[in-house]
Amino acid sequence: MAGPGRGPRGPGHGPARCCHTRGVVTELASAEALRIGPLAVWPPVVLAPMAGITNVAFRRLCREHGAGLYVSEMITTRALVERNAKTMKLVTFAADEQPRSIQLYGVDPDVVGRAVAMVVEENLADHIDLNFGCPVPKVTRKGGGSALPYRRGLLERILRAATRAIDRAGSPVPLTIKMRLGIDRDHLTYLDAGRIAEDCGVAAVALHGRTAADMYSGEADWAPIAELAEVLSVPVLGNGDIWEADDAIRMMRETGCAGVVVGRGCLGRPWLFADLAAAFAGRPERRLPSLAEVAAAMRRHAELLADWLGEDRGLPDFRKHVAWYLKGFMVGSELRQRLGLVGSLAELDDLLGRLDTDQPFPITELGRPRGRGTGPRRVALPEGWLDDPFECAVPVGAELADSGG
Ligand SMILES: Cc1cc2nc3c(=O)[nH]c(=O)nc-3n(C[C@H](O)[C@H](O)[C@H](O)COP(=O)(O)O)c2cc1C
Repeated sequence: MAGPGRGPRGPGHGPARCCHTRGVVTELASAEALRIGPLAVWPPVVLAPMAGITNVAFRRLCREHGAGLYVSEMITTRALVERNAKTMKLVTFAADEQPRSIQLYGVDPDVVGRAVAMVVEENLADHIDLNFGCPVPKVTRKGGGSALPYRRGLLERILRAATRAIDRAGSPVPLTIKMRLGIDRDHLTYLDAGRIAEDCGVAAVALHGRTAADMYSGEADWAPIAELAEVLSVPVLGNGDIWEADDAIRMMRETGCAGVVVGRGCLGRPWLFADLAAAFAGRPERRLPSLAEVAAAMRRHAELLADWLGEDRGLPDFRKHVAWYLKGFMVGSELRQRLGLVGSLAELDDLLGRLDTDQPFPITELGRPRGRGTGPRRVALPEGWLDDPFECAVPVGAELADSGG
C-alpha cells in the first residue's frame, strides 16, 4: 500500500499483465495504482466494509497477508457525534494502520456533516466512505443505505454537507461512496447517484452489482460497473462476487473499473489478500493452506480480537468466523460445535490441537460463494419513499440508534 505522497506503486510492483490459475490465463493490459484523492492504493484492492467483521482485528489479520485499503465496519454518524462508547470503540485503528479508512452511515445531512467534521478535525481517519448500499430492512425502512440514493435531492444534500465539512477543515481526507444498483430493477439509481457524487466532489465511487431487492441472491451483475466506469471521470470500484484473486483480474478486465472491493470472499480466508497481491503483480502463485495453517490463522484472529476486546468478549466475537475457516475441511461435528462455542484462548488452543491438521486445502471450495446468501425480498421503505425521487427532506425518525448493521 502506498500512502499519500508515495509513488503510484509500491517498490517492485510492475503492472499485472497475465496470470495463470488452474489452467486459465487471464490477460490484464495494465493495472495502475488506485487513486483515491491523495491516496495511492496498490494493489487496487479494497477490503469491503462489513459490519461485525471488519474491525481492527480482522483488518490487521488481512493486512498481515496482503496490501490495499481496509475499510472499517459501518459507523453510525448519530452515535459518533454523540460519542457513544460502543461506537468510539469501533473507531479503533492499529498504530501502523495506513491509511485509516472509516465507513460512515447517516441519513440526516446535518448529522453526517458533523460526523465528517469530527473525523477530520480530530484526525480519526485518512479516508471516509459513506454507506449507500446497506440493504437490511432496519436501515432501508428508515430511508438509509441502499434506499437513500433514490431520493436524489437528499443524497446531494448529504454529500454536500460532507464535502463542505472536509473543505472547511482544509483537510485532504478523500470522501468516497459505496452503493448498489438501486432499490430494484424498476428503480435503478446508480447512474444518477454516481453523477451526483462526482458533481459533489467525491474521490471515487464503489458499486455493488446488485439491487437492494436482490440482497445477496443470484450473481452480481458487473455490466453496470462497466457502464458507470465509462460515464464517470472519478475512479469506479467494482464490487460483487470476487471469490478468488482471478475474479478480481477478470472484473478489472471486463469492466474497466479502477479497483475492486472484496467482501465475503475473504471470510475465513484472510490469505486471499496475498493471492490478490500476487495476481495484480502478475505472479501465478495462489495460497492453498493446509488445515494446520488455517488453524494458525484462526489462532491469530482470535488473539487479535482478544487484544482488542479482552478474551471475554473477543472469543465470543470470534465464534462467527469458525464455520468460514473450516468450510470444506473434515472436522467432526462435535469438535466444530465446541469451536463454535469457544470461550477462551486456552480452550481454543486445546480444540485446535484436536484437529487432523495434515489435511490439504479443500480445493472444491475455491470459487464458491461464501457468507451471506440471503434471497431476494421486497425492500422495506419509509411510507411514500418512491413518490418523489427529487425529494430532499430527511424522513421522520431516520436515525439508527447505534453502529453496525
Ligand atoms: C456480514 C456483512 C456485513 C456487511 N456490512 C456492510 C457495511 O457495514 N457497509 C457496507 O457498505 N456494506 C456492507 N456489506 C456489504 C459488503 O461490503 C459488500 O458490498 C457485499 O458483501 C458484496 O461484496 P462481496 O460479493 O465481495 O461479498 C456487508 C456484507 C456482509 C456479508
